[in-house]
Amino acid sequence: MIKSIIDKSTGFEKRFENIDTVVFENSTDASKAVAQQIAALIKSKQEKNESCVLGLATGSSPKGLYAELVRLHKEEGLSFKNVITFNLDEYYPMEPDSVNSYVRFMKELLMDQVDILPENYHIPDGLLTKEEIADYCADYETKIEALGGIDLQVLGIGANGHIGFNESGSLQNSKTRLVALDHITRVAASKDFFGLNNTPRTAITLGVKKIMEAKQVILLAWGEGKADVVKKSVEGEVTNRIPASFLQEHNNVVFVLDKEASSKLTRINRPWLVEKIVWTDKLTRKAVLGLALDLKKPILM
Ligand code: GLP
Repeated sequence: MIKSIIDKSTGFEKRFENIDTVVFENSTDASKAVAQQIAALIKSKQEKNESCVLGLATGSSPKGLYAELVRLHKEEGLSFKNVITFNLDEYYPMEPDSVNSYVRFMKELLMDQVDILPENYHIPDGLLTKEEIADYCADYETKIEALGGIDLQVLGIGANGHIGFNESGSLQNSKTRLVALDHITRVAASKDFFGLNNTPRTAITLGVKKIMEAKQVILLAWGEGKADVVKKSVEGEVTNRIPASFLQEHNNVVFVLDKEASSKLTRINRPWLVEKIVWTDKLTRKAVLGLALDLKKPILM
């Protein structure tokens, strides 16, 4: 089970971290722990004869989680019969059976491999006409509201801090809508689309508001490439330049990280600022170098 390692009695990390973070040795272990947490929620809802409403993400980050959920279904009998899902986003326009569609992604990685009822998973429709989008988005939110909101929202994070496709500049009360994708997001996606020219410029995304209304949020981030944006989201100011930083204002959120993605957090990168440490040569060198960089002075000064 995912437990915050922040010791709230000392408040050490809290001086820097405004979001609970849990660091795993690697993304495989992390994904398994998150899958256990989701399975426990699904089962607890089953016991009460209730639906379990999950908000789901795409991208590379949740792939291990979905693989583990499929394993729990196939090997340990976890049923998804009471599960209702809403995906965060879809490129627009997008054919559902195209290789890059999030419909296809979700079907292949999860939906077609578990016993979820086909009418119970929702993924924004990439085939709408422009005129249909506004009503469709409002309806997507109404469906979520009618079910009492999202019980648990899984998120990834873009290198620019986007959540879903809520890019920099998105407002905290933004609704589900058609958005223009950032250049940085399109560059990241272009490897899947065989070049930037073929990469969609727009997408439909769940708004920040519905994400913030989820009862619980688990954000997954793996690899060194996410270390900067994780630090900014967790330790920096709340700003719409980094929509993930809005999560500092959510009361039940955890960032689940591998070692690399956590590597720039103060407690990992500069632990001497957070707690009493045993000074090793390596840490001493790191501290001196860090101080020189902070003060913008040569080491000998
Ligand atoms: C994609 C998705 C997001 C995802 C993010 C990170 O563009 N729309 O929902 O969280 O970017 O992707 P990845 O997990 O591949 O790093």
